[in-house]
Amino acid sequence: MRIDKESSSKMPLLAAMLQYKHEDVYPLHTPGHKGGRGMQRLLRQELGAGAQLDVSLMSELDDIHEPVSCIKEAQRLAAVTYGSDACFWAVNGTTQAIQAMLMTALRPGEKVLLPRNAHRSVAGGLILGDIEAVYIQPEYNCEFGIQTQVTAAAVAQALENDRTIRAVLLTSPNYYGIAAPIEEIAAICHQRGVVLLVDEAHGPHLGFSSLLPPSALQGGADACAQSTHKLLGAMTQCSMLHVQGARLDLQRAADVMSLLTTTSPNYLLMASLDAARCQVQQHGKEMAEAALQAAVKLRNLCWRQPGLKVLEEKDCGGFVLDKTKVTVNVSALGYTGVEAGDLLRQAGVAVELVDTHNVLFLITYADNTEDYDAALERIESVFTAMRENKRPRRQQPSVQVPPVAQSGMGLRQVFNSGTTDVKLEDAAGFICGEQISFYPPGIPVLLPGEIITQAIIDYCRYMKALGLPVSGPADSSLQRIRVVKK
Ligand SMILES: Cc1ncc(COP(=O)(O)O)c(C=O)c1O
Repeated sequence: MRIDKESSSKMPLLAAMLQYKHEDVYPLHTPGHKGGRGMQRLLRQELGAGAQLDVSLMSELDDIHEPVSCIKEAQRLAAVTYGSDACFWAVNGTTQAIQAMLMTALRPGEKVLLPRNAHRSVAGGLILGDIEAVYIQPEYNCEFGIQTQVTAAAVAQALENDRTIRAVLLTSPNYYGIAAPIEEIAAICHQRGVVLLVDEAHGPHLGFSSLLPPSALQGGADACAQSTHKLLGAMTQCSMLHVQGARLDLQRAADVMSLLTTTSPNYLLMASLDAARCQVQQHGKEMAEAALQAAVKLRNLCWRQPGLKVLEEKDCGGFVLDKTKVTVNVSALGYTGVEAGDLLRQAGVAVELVDTHNVLFLITYADNTEDYDAALERIESVFTAMRENKRPRRQQPSVQVPPVAQSGMGLRQVFNSGTTDVKLEDAAGFICGEQISFYPPGIPVLLPGEIITQAIIDYCRYMKALGLPVSGPADSSLQRIRVVKK
């Protein structure tokens, strides 16, 4: 097969890999399975021709650590597609891109403002970079039991309260598709010389259609980390870090990304980033619209079932919603989201997330198939059965989460300290060694490094007595809690 010039200019890395395959060179080099020849039979059968494309680092295939040819060009095309100044591929997911973003923007001891419910990869970035966190609470929607977003006013206030904060990191859109007011927050940050970083794990598809919230880069963020694998066509683990403007040092970003990247990155994964970028560059608008159309079918189906409540933009407290995420609140039927998720799974439908009230369906451009329509029929049957077997609605407690606990130690110090466990009732005054959240509301009541108070212990005991699921502690019964050794 000859690789035509057109596709090579559109997907430079994939084209170089296909060219290499076409040349039929005998591989006296890694990987040890030698183009699939030695691969375990079942795996080889399943991977098919893909096994031959699991190639190794060699000059014609460029090097992600110092790209000079096809990877350089492919990353440049990704930057052009998204309108950034530079794009760096992350083969260890958005986890890597977020950690690199934090370590590019901040030096040890500097402070970043974070929503209290930031993804755990952020904590990893703080540990690696020895960065200090200052937390703000996102807004909360009681009916759905979910956090919406942080307001621009809350960010402005936090920056006013602590003028040593150097960066703000937002999670936008969040898991439920609710986007932060990035443009407004970017203006507030930049007025004060503060850098705006966005965990856009759930937003690689934004920016291609005005029917979706604007992307972080369009809103003026200095950097964003996107999970290309979550909503576009890249393989699991494949993400991108984008940087724009002059506030961040591109060489520093390249150095940190290199530090956090294996010296043996998988070329199939990188080729999938190249191809996914090409696809979204050419068809981003149609892909966004296809996803929205598929989501509308599911929304309509849910609205036809009395008792179900679908999250719409009007429920988002003034924030914009990515409507490809369909959050369905089943609590009025007397079921938890976990129970509904189990029933759906039994009917052959697996969902993205379940929580106390809701089932979250993640819809993409790939859901414009007959299979999807068949899945909708199964979803409808499950919801109909739930409605016909309606139970009394469970009362949800409305308890005020205690104020953010005071920090007693940085995350890196906790990570490197010895921890032990003590009885929850004896824990006042200790520094917490783990994260504790209850669902709802899912907002951490304690994070590692925070000082445990009697009010927090009382809250935890009350939530436990209500039987609400706890997330984070090693002892899930929360009889004992991990603390830093005194
Ligand atoms: C908001 C958010 N940020 C970051 C990540 C990490 O992304 P990845 O799994 O690509 O490392 C996730 C993953 O679920 C996420 O939901």
